[in-house]
Amino acid sequence: MTQRSSRPRSAGYEAAPNIALVKYWGMRDERLVLPNNSSLSMTVSRLRTRTWVRFDPSLPSDRLWLNDRPAEPGPLQGVVDFLNLVREEAGISLFAEVRSLNNFPTASGLASSASGFAALAGAASAAAGLHLSPRELSRLARRGSGSASRSIFGGFVEWQAGHRTDGQDSYARPVLSPDHWPDLRDVVVLVADAPEKSVRSARAMQDTVRTSPYYAERLRTVPGRLAAIRSALRTRSSDRFLDLLIEECDDFRRVCETTVPSLDYLTTTSRAVLAAVLDLNREARHPIAGYTHDAGAHVHVFTFHRHVPIVRARLQRIPGVADTRVLSPGPAARPIRRGAA
Ligand code: PMV
Repeated sequence: MTQRSSRPRSAGYEAAPNIALVKYWGMRDERLVLPNNSSLSMTVSRLRTRTWVRFDPSLPSDRLWLNDRPAEPGPLQGVVDFLNLVREEAGISLFAEVRSLNNFPTASGLASSASGFAALAGAASAAAGLHLSPRELSRLARRGSGSASRSIFGGFVEWQAGHRTDGQDSYARPVLSPDHWPDLRDVVVLVADAPEKSVRSARAMQDTVRTSPYYAERLRTVPGRLAAIRSALRTRSSDRFLDLLIEECDDFRRVCETTVPSLDYLTTTSRAVLAAVLDLNREARHPIAGYTHDAGAHVHVFTFHRHVPIVRARLQRIPGVADTRVLSPGPAARPIRRGAA
């Protein structure tokens, strides 16, 4: 069924990035973006992507503006592929203009693909006339970038891997609300010399699946660690949470570094940040901070409101640290009111 509209139809949606506390790394189905393991993340406050989509009969092709600039062919193709899924679902054939604004540096490695595809899923589906539930939006966002499935929800979010071959049971759901642990903080440490990603995560992770001798062991241990982290969050057990966060990050880094060719996302500065966190914990004689990082050089240092000044002061004096930003658990994705820019 092809539904043609003579009027342009538009919608806007906003979503925040998320940081994985238990990583998604490896797919059982690349086309449907079905992961090998479930993952758990925190959607963050303050940072957001706002995206507007307009399906317009006068457009000869899809257009994408990223932060008010025409997009490069790579990101444009990702958005065209995604719009094709939405057009197919809605039974329309119109091209679209997509305008997306991040309130944080796009190339900084702060998970712009997660917030970007979550916002695009919301805006494109609404503009196409689909009325999707949050769960359906999560499934759709997953097709753009796996981690985007989690940015549909706020607070602490679990993406269940699912078992079905059609992916219907592979979606995220909120497990704890943003105000569950009010003094938890994520000090994002931006490193000055962060290189641009050379290989997309979706490709890099499949290299790990094929070549890392530790990947099978990771898959065996992740479910237990995910349950332990979920329970430490639920009971607000800070020492346990911070220890497990570091353990998971180190395990993720081990499978990356043992991938052929090796995936080394950290810089000298990032490594100094990890070492400083371990030093801080040794000096305090118990965990006051825990680190994690995704497929990039910036480091997320989790701590608590009362420790932020000491943690931040220590990290900021590391040579190569450009900036730190203190984030909290953040909100779910939502529609943008008409007229808001
Ligand atoms: O969603 P992608 O394809 O950008 O992959 C995300 C991979 C990690 O950020 C490293 C882990 C995760 O779960 O977010």
